[in-house]
Amino acid sequence: MSDVKKNLAVIGAQWGDEGKGKIVDLLCEDFDVVARYQGGHNAGHTVKFGDKHYTLKLIPSGIFHRDKLCILGNGMVIDPQALLEEIATLQSVGVVIEENLKISDSAHVILPYHKALDLAREEAAGEGKIGTTGRGIGPAYETKVSRYGIRVADLLDRDVLREKIEFACAEKNPVLAGVYHKETFDPAKLYEAYLGYAEQLAPRITSGTVLINEQIRAGKAIMFEGAQATMLDIDHGTYPFVTSSNCTVGGICTGLGVAPKHIHRVYGVAKAYTTRVGGGAFPTELIDAHGEHLRKRGNEFGTVTGRSRRTGWLDLPVLRTAAMLNGLDAIALTKLDVLDEFDEIQVCTGYNVRGERWKTFPAFAVAHHDYKPEYRTFKGWQTSIVGITEFDALPQNAKDYIRFVEDETGCPASIISTGPRREETIVR
Ligand code: IMP
Repeated sequence: MSDVKKNLAVIGAQWGDEGKGKIVDLLCEDFDVVARYQGGHNAGHTVKFGDKHYTLKLIPSGIFHRDKLCILGNGMVIDPQALLEEIATLQSVGVVIEENLKISDSAHVILPYHKALDLAREEAAGEGKIGTTGRGIGPAYETKVSRYGIRVADLLDRDVLREKIEFACAEKNPVLAGVYHKETFDPAKLYEAYLGYAEQLAPRITSGTVLINEQIRAGKAIMFEGAQATMLDIDHGTYPFVTSSNCTVGGICTGLGVAPKHIHRVYGVAKAYTTRVGGGAFPTELIDAHGEHLRKRGNEFGTVTGRSRRTGWLDLPVLRTAAMLNGLDAIALTKLDVLDEFDEIQVCTGYNVRGERWKTFPAFAVAHHDYKPEYRTFKGWQTSIVGITEFDALPQNAKDYIRFVEDETGCPASIISTGPRREETIVR
């Protein structure tokens, strides 16, 4: 089992909501530390075990295992109010959150004007809107890159905090009022509120980079928990319909201060079909009864926003792109049971882009939706596979489907999920 004691990244291979929470939770046992490296409370990880069902937005899924250290990395954007609410909710159902949750002092802070700007822009964009989660994620990352952001460490310095909030309001208020005709923010009130959050979060704030590197030096096994997914990556996704961080493997190095040599294995989590929320390219989208069936059977409604997800067939160019960008060692194929009732299942094997065949995702074709998916049809298995835990017990047609995905992506499907519960899983 020595191989298992290596650091592992778990990253979404599609457009998010692949079931990363379940996979992280499942694999957690073998790790000492679970760390997030990007994103904020736009993420929504659902973890189900026994008859309990939990939603996590900011806190890594390792929190349910008492002996795991959970770290919110510097690459994240953190809404302190949302974090405190999440901590309180989990504690109220008996989850222990003490020394096991630490926050990097270099992570950036989301303030209410970020959220207001996010919502105002989306409203102003009308049909062209990105379909963000409305949590202020994009504007917070923009402020970070502009170098006027408020970092978690600033929460602990009263003078710096006051100065930075006043400066930010002087800039954001005229934009909110003048451009978008929205309410403005009183810097004194924000200062008071954020001082209060700071007091509550202070014991958890630490140098995240030193902490994680100490853990690595001490030989602890680290799991890097991705949020959102490869096709939502700010550089490699379907820009501009993406989130504002690097969800792919490189984000781990910058978002936690961990050198590449410490990332030993990378698992990509992919649904056995495809979904996305919000606008943007989705070549295999099904706007028909099949799509509706996937949505209903797969319960494809957003964990954070409750929005109904767009659904479609499995897209191999997307998975090949994820395998290439992240150097995937294996795929965790989730929600295979959602396909149980189809008599035929289609898989997109490539795109025809202006007469040329593409086997990976063509960034240049996104703006004009200039890709025609090419499909291969598989026979469905039309029997329930819910709860199956052995690969050999799967119907032949399901095995054929999985083997095709493995051959075409070059990645073994080491984990196959046959239901939402922890125990409804095949581990090969
Ligand atoms: P933002 O991250 O709120 O700025 O949203 C940008 C895009 O990423 C939108 O299409 C969102 O629907 C999508 N997105 C953000 N977080 C998630 C997630 O956790 N799952 C799926 N889509 C997400």
